Amino acid sequence: MTIVRTVEAARTWAADRRRSGARLALVPTMGALHAGHLAHVQAARQRADAVALSVFVNPTQFGPGEDLERYPRDLDRDGALSAAAGVDLLFAPSPRDMYPGGQTGVAVDVGAVGTVLEGKHRPTHFRGVATVVCKLLAVFVPDIATFGQKDAQQVVVVRHVVREMLLPVEIVCIPTVRDPDGLALSSRNAYLTAEQRRAAPVLRRALLEAEAMVRAGERRGAAVEEVLRAVLSSERLAQTDYALAVSAEDLRPAVVLQGRILLVAAARFGATRLLDNTCLDVGPDGVSAALP
Ligand code: PAJ
Repeated sequence: MTIVRTVEAARTWAADRRRSGARLALVPTMGALHAGHLAHVQAARQRADAVALSVFVNPTQFGPGEDLERYPRDLDRDGALSAAAGVDLLFAPSPRDMYPGGQTGVAVDVGAVGTVLEGKHRPTHFRGVATVVCKLLAVFVPDIATFGQKDAQQVVVVRHVVREMLLPVEIVCIPTVRDPDGLALSSRNAYLTAEQRRAAPVLRRALLEAEAMVRAGERRGAAVEEVLRAVLSSERLAQTDYALAVSAEDLRPAVVLQGRILLVAAARFGATRLLDNTCLDVGPDGVSAALP
């Protein structure tokens, strides 16, 4: 595995690979790698000849008072995990490299898909995500790039940006990897106290209960949301931020559950906010699991 720290070196590596006819995959991350990230590498290896993984704690997607400074950083560990998983190139640029004109240089406005759900709580978040993703895609010009279902709104935003910016890349969504008790793996799980960690799987339980209702025939979004909220509020340590049924296409409220829908929930455990979702295809002949 090669490690590069500059945009120029990454660009050269990617251009060389493309010239030799390789299909390129990019796995964007902020590091603190866990088994969820490594599932992206595995999926990327199945679909491409060369896999680049970026580790960049992107300052522009953090709001004031968020965890930018204390976000876990350990490049040696990330490097060892990446090499073992079969990454070909690890790209770990500095903020200066990614934002040569400073962080207020140019930003990508993502419109309405970025203002709902997470966007309500983190108004500048998706602008930062879209900006850095465009930059990473510009550096590598990969054939595919992977994004995780756990951050379903991020997948919808990235697909929207790729379509609107006419970017020649296929976005591949990777299913959520979980701990055995159902909690979605997240770098932020490390912030939880032991007691909060025991409480956190309530997110998954609430979503599974809501999903079971839909599978049993419930088609009213409001009824499903009510159950989501009821299960979440049964856990004393969880403060619900939102628990909603939305369209997986544009994140608008799903009043009637039909087509590809997302049940999404965000809750705070102390100061730590966790997200989870389930994606379903609701058709005339039944309900099946789907991906955003
Ligand atoms: P990060 O939180 O490091 O996540 C990197 C990728 O891994 C994202 O696509 C995320 O959705 C995915 N991921 C996280 N937890 C997962 C899990 N349990 N199972 C499967 N995939 C999971 O998301 C970001 O970084 C940043 O916003 C980024 C896209 C890199 C832009 O800065």
